[in-house]
Amino acid sequence: MRDLGIFTNENKIVQSKYDKFKQINRFVEILNDAFKNFNKKEITILDFGCGKSYLTFAVYYYFAKIKNIKPKIIGYDIKEDVVNFCNTLSNKYGYENLKFLVNDITQDNLFSEKVDMLITLHACDIATDFALKYGIKNYVPYIFSVPCCQHEINNQIKCGGDFDLLLKYGLIKERFSALLTDSIRAEILKDFGYKVDVLEFVDFAHSPKNIMLRCKLNQKKSPTKNVLINDIMEKYNFKQTLYNELYK
Ligand SMILES: C[S@@+](CC[C@H](N)C(=O)[O-])C[C@H]1O[C@@H](n2cnc3c(N)ncnc32)[C@H](O)[C@@H]1O
Repeated sequence: MRDLGIFTNENKIVQSKYDKFKQINRFVEILNDAFKNFNKKEITILDFGCGKSYLTFAVYYYFAKIKNIKPKIIGYDIKEDVVNFCNTLSNKYGYENLKFLVNDITQDNLFSEKVDMLITLHACDIATDFALKYGIKNYVPYIFSVPCCQHEINNQIKCGGDFDLLLKYGLIKERFSALLTDSIRAEILKDFGYKVDVLEFVDFAHSPKNIMLRCKLNQKKSPTKNVLINDIMEKYNFKQTLYNELYK
């Protein structure tokens, strides 16, 4: 945490990083709940849009040092400089199974072995949809996703019915579009056999992007259409990436 700039040399939290620190702690607390009874000796985790990887390092530490479960973690990011930085740090601490790769997560060339858990923390806009698509298509048992900015629906949605009032004012339209996006994502995950909880991840004061989709695969399913989502998309004239990618 010191090397990542979250802690000072005196192990105090850097003031400007306090919100990030809160987010990481809360994320790990939620994992701690979910993995209370996990009895495997190893766990494979992918972090999509890992950025500077505060969370990725914390999750590695949590499983390796606290749970005594051997983690294998790959963090994906499109930015080469942060990936290099994170690999250097991982080598420095001898975290041999914590690797970072430069990769566009919208592409179909990601990890092809069995994955136990997928995490995302504020992966930009539709990057979250591609992460969820990977999770669903690869039957990843656990998905914990905190979406970020959601421009996709906001940029397209047109008046079309009962919700028109919510589209009149920019700020409300933006928030409504974000909630609609996450509702659609949750519904799709449910459709494909996940039990989905939508949680307030941290208090609004620590991040306005504070919804987590906590998902556990119960039963593999392959739906071809979701009438509820389809009707809303047609009525309000927008497309949604996760839906377009999965229902063909
Ligand atoms: C807001 S940052 C969050 C970083 C980190 N997860 C955190 O919470 O501190 C979003 C990250 O997603 C990465 N990203 C966005 N689109 C991506 C894509 N298509 N493929 C890979 N990484 C992507 C960005 O480069 C950025 O580092």
